[in-house]
Amino acid sequence: MQRFGSSSRDWDELASMDPLWAVLTLNDKRGNRWDIEEFWETGRDQVDATMGLLERLGWNGARELAVDFGCGVGRMSRALSPYFDRTVGVDISNKMVELARDLNAGVSGLEFERIDGATIDAIQSGTVDMVHTILVLQHLPNATQAIGYLHEFERILRPGGVLVFDIITETRWTYRLRARRRLYRILRVAGVAPERLHAKGLTSMTMTSVPVQDVDDFIRESGLEVLLIDDQQKGSFSKRFYYLRKPG
Ligand SMILES: C[S@@+](CC[C@H](N)C(=O)[O-])C[C@H]1O[C@@H](n2cnc3c(N)ncnc32)[C@H](O)[C@@H]1O
Repeated sequence: MQRFGSSSRDWDELASMDPLWAVLTLNDKRGNRWDIEEFWETGRDQVDATMGLLERLGWNGARELAVDFGCGVGRMSRALSPYFDRTVGVDISNKMVELARDLNAGVSGLEFERIDGATIDAIQSGTVDMVHTILVLQHLPNATQAIGYLHEFERILRPGGVLVFDIITETRWTYRLRARRRLYRILRVAGVAPERLHAKGLTSMTMTSVPVQDVDDFIRESGLEVLLIDDQQKGSFSKRFYYLRKPG
């Protein structure tokens, strides 16, 4: 799988300028305007809902290890940690991982690791009870890489473990955002500082949709069992949430 050097630099820059907004990009929170408690609460609400849903779907697997892929500053990892003996947040950005460690110091059973953006080598095959990744696959450079990661998630799942992820399925807006990202790149190459571009509302963040057919193919090849597929409209985006279980 390809390495993502520029992506990790982009996320480091975002983490240095406006980390909480970079994680949860609400317009009125741009410019370091997130209240940290309100920010954590968004993670707790979503994780509590996910865990309740999985219980209703009949998932009663082990709760030893959860991996939160693309953890950012640990919004979801922190919320997952009460449910598992050990929760590991992994991220491509050094700066995000440093912030996650600082902001979550003292939360028991929670740790953070930087990964190289190609694999999750740090995690052994067949050891994870939940792989959780929200608001991450949509920021990869292309759908092929997203599918590559899905295979990696399946590798680390223990039989009986669950995989929870979301993708963007609708492309209209993603194309529009790609044009803005191109403008960002041009101005960066021309020497404009990232802080100025951020203040002007431009961002390095990319938006990638993943074809549902590709995910269907992954599910068939991997043999994961579908617990639920949930289509949702989130602002301008059509999203699909997957709840899959590894048989066993
Ligand atoms: C929008 S944030 C979401 C963070 C977190 N999942 C949440 O919902 O609070 C996306 C995160 O994915 C990370 N990321 C992007 N590409 C990645 C990759 N290839 N591997 C691991 N993390 C990645 C970024 O560094 C960033 O922290």
